[in-house]
Amino acid sequence: MTTNTKRLSWLPFLKADIPASLTTSEQIARFELDQALPALAAGKSAELNVSADMGESYTIEANDDVYTITGGESGVLYGTYALIMCLAAGHPVPQGTQQPRYALRMLNCWDNADGSIERGYAGRSLFFEGGKFDYDPVRLRQLGRMLASVGLNVMCINNVNVRYPADQLIESWLPQLAELAAIYRPFGVKLMVSIDYSAPMRHGVPTADPLDPQVQEWWNKQAEIVYKAVPDLAGFLVKADSEGRPGPFTYGRNHAEGANMLARALKPFGGKLVWRCFVYNCRQDWRDRKTDRPMAAYQHYAYLDGQFEDNVILQIKNGPFDFQVREPVSPLLYAMPKTDLAIEFQLAQEYTGQQIDIFAMPPMWREIFDDMPADKVMSIAAVTNLGRDDNYCGHPFAAVNLFGYGLFAWDPSIQPEKIIRLWTKLTYGMDQLSEDALVSLLMGSRRTYEKYTAPLGLCWMVTPNQHYGPNPSGYEYQAWGTYHKADREAVGIDRTAAGTGYVCQYPEEFQKLYGSLETCPDELILWFHRLRYDYVMRDGRTLIQRIYDDHFEGLEETKAMAETLKTLPLPSPDREEALERMNRQLFNAREWCDIVNNFFHNYSGIDDAHGRTIY
Ligand code: GCU
Repeated sequence: MTTNTKRLSWLPFLKADIPASLTTSEQIARFELDQALPALAAGKSAELNVSADMGESYTIEANDDVYTITGGESGVLYGTYALIMCLAAGHPVPQGTQQPRYALRMLNCWDNADGSIERGYAGRSLFFEGGKFDYDPVRLRQLGRMLASVGLNVMCINNVNVRYPADQLIESWLPQLAELAAIYRPFGVKLMVSIDYSAPMRHGVPTADPLDPQVQEWWNKQAEIVYKAVPDLAGFLVKADSEGRPGPFTYGRNHAEGANMLARALKPFGGKLVWRCFVYNCRQDWRDRKTDRPMAAYQHYAYLDGQFEDNVILQIKNGPFDFQVREPVSPLLYAMPKTDLAIEFQLAQEYTGQQIDIFAMPPMWREIFDDMPADKVMSIAAVTNLGRDDNYCGHPFAAVNLFGYGLFAWDPSIQPEKIIRLWTKLTYGMDQLSEDALVSLLMGSRRTYEKYTAPLGLCWMVTPNQHYGPNPSGYEYQAWGTYHKADREAVGIDRTAAGTGYVCQYPEEFQKLYGSLETCPDELILWFHRLRYDYVMRDGRTLIQRIYDDHFEGLEETKAMAETLKTLPLPSPDREEALERMNRQLFNAREWCDIVNNFFHNYSGIDDAHGRTIY
């Protein structure tokens, strides 16, 4: 038995590598129980009962000295990890049948064949290097263990921006794809691949027009070839007509026509076609005040409701922009009752601190789940924060986001503190005071980050392209449609009915909430409204004072986090890594605070009421 040297965050007590010889979920479940039970529940044993018709669901019965886990093929594995984690955390085992809320619980890896990861902050790709598949199967099985332990069941392994000739996944690498699928199959994880919409054109087809019979024929054939190699492939993921990617618009076709052609090719094999709705004009003239980027997805898709094949899933980012620190829920999620929808999150901290700054996402997701239509969204996806770093996620605390995402995907009614406390307990098993301190630090980390960066719904003050660190006007004169329009009088965009009309894309309840200054939450006030600096907020402070106060508070809170961190008995190397990154976070928070305050001070000419230094 070999022992893993790479760290597994919330499963530190599962030390033995999973042997390649285990090829069914039941075998893996047995293996995990055999290593965990003696340490976590000495004298107790566990029985596994596979009942195929239970699929992903499971029950755990505790009788005297025996736990009985009954479930479908992946159900028994999920039940096993649930039992192990309950025992490790000292929690009672769950009562009754447990089953996941979402059918597809997907991870999207933005990994490139050259080994780089788009928006990756945890090292190189776990799957690719030097233009080909290149992985350590031991580590991949450990990743399988992590994914199964939180119930994730689909992994798209390559970047949505498929680049040729580098990324010829579905064309030249099918044997390797099949090997990878075999590694993940016993963990209940099916693979998915991102495809390039123009692929037929590299194979002698003169067009990629979805209504052209030759194109349809090429994809039908391609699907047949791919499914012969990987019969249980979950499907294809597509980014089309977005940020320079090819798509149906080139041929004057809409996205239902574009998606349905691929969906029909996949249907005979039971595959899903996951089609991203991240479509907007990225060549906007900044002088144009009529085009409002967050309105784009609704405009491109809402009218197509009911026109998609039944194996199409539209994947919609949680907010209408692009994973900003705070966004209102995407109105498109409300606009397509006859279409299968997936909500998309981003665990990779592209705009939220890049796994240098601490940003625990569960409190943010709670707000999003509370605001989205519970019964309309059937699947869930997240861009991963994974990479080849020893701890998989870069910052040791970033694993809480992968863990939390899995728990939300299983049960979206879960409370963020429950997730964060469970992760902290399992990962560190610290004394109560230290655990409380870390839980509260993580629970507050998003709010703190928001305060020192771009509070009140401002967004987009990051350094362009790189997206770490401040540059308040960095995106003002660019073509991406991401503006705050600060001038010497006011800041923000009027997205009410009298402004761009964005708010009208929502159901009435949200139109009222966001459209009125009386009720719009402070955290989103500059998202929906353009306000003068001397506008008096509900708490009596002026807008400019709120901007200054939030920034100073965010910086002070970061300093307090740094002090707390020093007191925690974290094991090595997490302690050293967390402290080293905290130094960078402190630097970042100070830059943000001083640069953004300076920016607004220069524009408004209004001093801080408390006489603090604005550089
Ligand atoms: C963001 C991100 C890109 C990514 C895109 C997407 O714009 O910066 O790197 O490709 O989102 O979601 O497709």
